[in-house]
Amino acid sequence: MSESSAAVTYASYLKLDELLSLQQPRSEGPEHDELLFIVIHQVYELWFKELLHELDHVATLLEGDEPSRAQHTLKRVLTILKVLVAQLDILETMTPLEFLSFRARLEAASGFQSDQFRQIEFLLGAKQHGALDRFPQGSRAHAALVRRYTAPTLWDAFLHYLSREGYSIPIAQLTRDPKSAIESSTEIQDVLLDVYRRDPKTTEICERLVDLDEGFAEWRYRHVRMVERTIGVKPGTGGSGGAAYLRTTTGRNLFPDLWEIRSKL
Ligand code: HEM
Repeated sequence: MSESSAAVTYASYLKLDELLSLQQPRSEGPEHDELLFIVIHQVYELWFKELLHELDHVATLLEGDEPSRAQHTLKRVLTILKVLVAQLDILETMTPLEFLSFRARLEAASGFQSDQFRQIEFLLGAKQHGALDRFPQGSRAHAALVRRYTAPTLWDAFLHYLSREGYSIPIAQLTRDPKSAIESSTEIQDVLLDVYRRDPKTTEICERLVDLDEGFAEWRYRHVRMVERTIGVKPGTGGSGGAAYLRTTTGRNLFPDLWEIRSKL
C-alpha cells in the first residue's frame, strides 16, 4: 500500500511521532523538571495558535453581523483562557532550585519572545511597534506580527458592528489608525451606556469582552506571581528587569471604555 493510501490512524492523523520527538531538554542528565518546562511552553504555544484562530473568527462573525455565533466563540476563547491560567498551577509545583537546575541552559530564551503572544496582544489592541524589532526580518514570526500590526483589532470589529446596528459611532473612531492604542472616548462610552440600558443582546457581547479583558489580566497577574515565587526579583532570561517589568504590564485595560462606563451606570 502506498503511503498516500495508507489508512489514517490516531498516530498518523496527529503526527504523533513528530510531536513526541519535539521535547528536547538541553540540561545534562537531563534535569528531571526540564521536560515539564518544555511541555508546558509547547502546550501554551498550541493554545495561543488556537486562540488566534478563534479570535479571528470572532472578528469575522462580528463583521458578518452574526452576534450569537460571535458570543458563542467568545465563550470558547474564555474557556481556553481559564485553562491557560490553570496551567500555571502545574509549573508552580517546581521549586526555585528545581528551576535553577536547568535555567542557565535557557540562555536568552524567554516567553518574552513568543510572537504568538504578541499577536494576541496586537489583535486585542495592545500594539507596540518595538515588538516587531525583536524578530528577524523575513521570519515567519516577523511577517505574522507585521500583518497583525497593521490589521484592525477586535475592538475595531466591534465598533463597526455597533455602527451597523444603528449606534452613532463617530467617524473618527470608525476610521481610526488600527496601529494606534485604544484610547478611552466619552462618545463611545455614551453609546455603551445606551447599549447597557436598552439592548440586552449587545450587552452580552460587551460583557464577554470584559471577561476577555479580565481573563487576560488574570494570566498576567498569575504569571508575575509565579515568576516572583520562582526567581524573586532577579532579571529575566529575556533581558528585562523580570518581575519589576512584568508588574508594569498588569493593570492595563484592553477595552478602557467598557470599564469606565461601570461608574456611570
Ligand atoms: C518558571 C517559569 C517562568 C518564569 C520564571 C518566567 C519568567 C519570565 C520573565 C522574568 C519574564 C520577563 C521577560 C524576561 O525574560 O526578561 C517573562 C515574560 C513572559 N513569559 Fe514567562 N516565565 C515562566 C513561565 C512562562 C510560561 C509557562 C509562559 C507561557 C507561554 C510564559 C510566557 C511569558 C510571556 C508571554 C512573557 C512576556 C510578557 C510580556 O511582555 O507582557 N512564561 N517570563
